[in-house]
Formats: sequence, structure tokens, C-alpha cells
Amino acid sequence: MIDNIGEMSDIMANKVGKTICFFSAKGGVGKTTNLLNLAGILEQLEKRVLIIDFDLYSGAVATFLNRKFDKSIYHLALDIESAAFNDIHDYTVQVDDYIDIICAPKDPRDANKIEASLIPNIIKNASYYYDAVLIDTNHALNDINLTILDSVDQIYFMMTNDPLDVKNMKSLIAIFKSLDINNYKLILNNSRDPFKDYFSLYELKRLVGHNIDYTISVDLYLKEMENLIMKGVIVSLDRKFADVMSDDYHTFLVMATDILKGEVSDE
Ligand SMILES: Nc1ncnc2c1ncn2[C@@H]1O[C@H](COP(=O)(O)OP(=O)(O)O)[C@@H](O)[C@H]1O
Ligand SMILES: [Mg+2]
Repeated sequence: MIDNIGEMSDIMANKVGKTICFFSAKGGVGKTTNLLNLAGILEQLEKRVLIIDFDLYSGAVATFLNRKFDKSIYHLALDIESAAFNDIHDYTVQVDDYIDIICAPKDPRDANKIEASLIPNIIKNASYYYDAVLIDTNHALNDINLTILDSVDQIYFMMTNDPLDVKNMKSLIAIFKSLDINNYKLILNNSRDPFKDYFSLYELKRLVGHNIDYTISVDLYLKEMENLIMKGVIVSLDRKFADVMSDDYHTFLVMATDILKGEVSDE
């Protein structure tokens, strides 16, 4: 048996998927909702996607997708530590033909037992099996999240048009500049709350000190979002999404294409 995850990665096929993390300066900005929308668009491009729920204390991916699970990221970490790890698929839950998830711990106390030092190898290993590995987080600047941010190819910061969020994002971007971390893009989410529209795009850019790379429009605000979530629906997989929300469909398509750029060929 291969008892070392790094060793296992080395002997795998040479195809390596892209690794992306969604992060924000505050909670409730729409990370989980739109990470799932992005996964749906990647599925339409026939890409295999793994979502890892690293929102360890209040992970919502399994709930949003209405999936039951036995093993979580906690069991994966535990098994690596005890050399019982064999295959990442022992810890995944299938959503459909293209999307798998690794869930956050059921018991939040288990989150405290996950060693941050295991994370780079977990992400690397996952990238050998999937075209894109999308990592959901919470907004804490703790060891776990900093290690994730340091391990992924691309970071997507999500921000709403809300004064507190903008202020916190400005600090976060200043911290990243000081740490010389440049592999991030900024998503302005206007769909989270249609009544929050405090600043113009020009003011936002000036305030946070960074370009807004993608904007999710107010069209994607859905009153029934919570109902859809309860039913496990990925909105971007709806047949009508491209027509009814064409701007946002296009935005997610550009995001997905940007992620896949530089993709290693399948051979
Ligand atoms: N497009 C949307 N339309 C309506 N409500 C939304 C939308 N996006 C997010 N929400 C609401 O905002 C809440 C927080 O979104 P979520 O994706 O969980 O944010 P985060 O992951 O950043 O904490 C969700 O429970 C959902 O009810
Ligand atoms: Mg979330």
C-alpha cells in the first residue's frame, strides 16, 4: 500500500487540474452559492470538478447540494496522518457525472483536529484527478485558510457593495500586497443583496485599491434562492440560465475559461 500521499501524487498520471479558492473579508457574501454556480458552468464545459468544503466549522456545501455523507475532510486528514490513506475517492460524494464533493466535518469539534500542514498535499493530490478543484472557505485569516490560500493556483475574493465589506476588503488586499501574494482576482457580487449599491465601480476600485475582475449582476438575485438551495439545485445548471441570465452566464463562462487557461493537455 502507498502510505504517503506525496509519493502517491508523484506516480500518478501527469494531468494536473487547476486549484481555486473562494475567500472573502466577511461571511455571507455569496461564496458558497457562486462557487457552486461556477462548478455548474465547468460541468457544462465537460470538466471534472472536485469541491472541497474547507469551511470547517459551518460547511454548507453538502447542505446546499442536499447530499448525505459519512466521511468528511476530517477523515481524510486523519487517515493521511495514520498512513491509512489510499484513494481520495474514498472521501468524495458524487453530485453528478462531473461534480464530486468532499464535505466539511459533521462535528465542528473535529475541525480543530485537522493539521494545516496536510493541506498542500491534499490539494495537490486532488488536482491529479480533476480538471478543477474548487475550495470553499470561511473568512477567517487562520492557519488553515492561509495555508489553503498559499497552496492554490488562483484565489477568488468575493465582495459585495457594502461599506463594511469594502473596508475589510481594502485591509485584506493591503495584507496580500504586503505578503507579496498576487494570484488573486476580485469578484464583485451584486446579487447577494439588491438594495446594497453604495459605491460606483470607479469608487470601489479606488477604495479597495484593486481592479474588479468579474461582476455578478443583480439579475442573479433570486428571492427563492433559499428554496432552491434546500432542494439541492445548482442554478447555473438550469437549462434556462444562459438565456434568462445571459450576462451572468457570460461572466461565469469567462471565469471558468480563465481558470482552465494553461490547462495541461489530456494526453
Ligand atoms: N443570488 C442570490 N439571491 C438571493 N439570495 C442569495 C444569493 N446569493 C446568496 N444568497 C443568500 O445569501 C446567503 C449567504 O450566501 P452564501 O453563498 O452562503 O455566502 P458565504 O458562503 O459567503 O457565506 C445564502 O444563504 C443565500 O440565502
Ligand atoms: Mg459559505
